[in-house]
Amino acid sequence: MKPDISVTFLTKKMSSPLVLASGVLGLTADSMKRVLDAGAGAVTTKSFSMEARKGHPCPTILPFENGLLNAVGLSNPGAEEMNKEISKLRNLSKGLIFASIFGKTPEEFGRTAALAAESEPDLIEVNVSCPNVESEFGTPFGASFRDVEAITKIVKHAAGAVPVSIKLTVHCQSLSKMAHVCEESGADAITAINTVGPGMLIDTGVMKPVLANKVGGVSGPAIFPIALKAVWEIAGTVKLPVIATGGVTTTDDALQMIMAGASLVSIGSAVYYKDLDVFSNINAGLLDWMTERKMKNLQEIRGKAHE
Ligand SMILES: Cc1cc2nc3c(=O)[nH]c(=O)nc-3n(C[C@H](O)[C@H](O)[C@H](O)COP(=O)(O)O)c2cc1C
Repeated sequence: MKPDISVTFLTKKMSSPLVLASGVLGLTADSMKRVLDAGAGAVTTKSFSMEARKGHPCPTILPFENGLLNAVGLSNPGAEEMNKEISKLRNLSKGLIFASIFGKTPEEFGRTAALAAESEPDLIEVNVSCPNVESEFGTPFGASFRDVEAITKIVKHAAGAVPVSIKLTVHCQSLSKMAHVCEESGADAITAINTVGPGMLIDTGVMKPVLANKVGGVSGPAIFPIALKAVWEIAGTVKLPVIATGGVTTTDDALQMIMAGASLVSIGSAVYYKDLDVFSNINAGLLDWMTERKMKNLQEIRGKAHE
């Protein structure tokens, strides 16, 4: 029998466990359709707020040898425009659509979730963890158990029938305690992790930080081992499905995330390194790996690293 990489995520069937991570190609229906056509089972929108937001000045994205540094600053056209893109995408593709949201206060998270729910996405992903907007937003909410509890409860209520995933940061005192907080506050899933840092790179020619914002979140292969350990810890602590995010670039990376307990595997920075082929290449790699071992589905390896 041929192996099957389709998965069921919170009752919905996906052709592949691969997901486009928030922040990369997630602003328009057309760009997200290209990602679904390229082999992703789901796409996550760029994080959006109630109102449009300009973000940080350029340069905002800087590739380096093992990753990316970014300080995009959550620029987005606001909930009304993003809902139009989500509804348009719904008519263009059967792939799942995850709406990523953020706010300045728990109440604003709730109001944004209520707006996002109007476009009936398959999931609302709650970005409590962006590390490069500290100047405007203070320490990320994801560092505080109390804030994550309040935001999860308020968003869950506002989202109605739409399931909710809380996107965590490693920059908190205990990821397993934070995962428990999410579970006990009603979350349906956990996404882990957001970018790490912030970090910095200096242009030695002009002797100044390269990013206009000076600091930015670190992503890509440089953070893979950190993300993998976070996924392993969360999946070993709570029963919620985990959307693994951080540095996934190859089939082996995706397999490791699934063996650590991930239900889905998100890819962001690798789209910069490898373009959209990264989705079809990893899908094909998973099928080859399973064929060689006569495995039927990904369930057979999920969480195996815990045994
Ligand atoms: C350019 C860029 C923009 C991002 N914007 C967002 C965002 O708006 N919301 C969010 O939750 N994460 C955002 N992220 C973080 C990614 O979704 C992801 O969590 C992180 O980059 C680690 O995955 P990766 O190594 O596959 O990129 C962004 C990442 C990058 C590189």
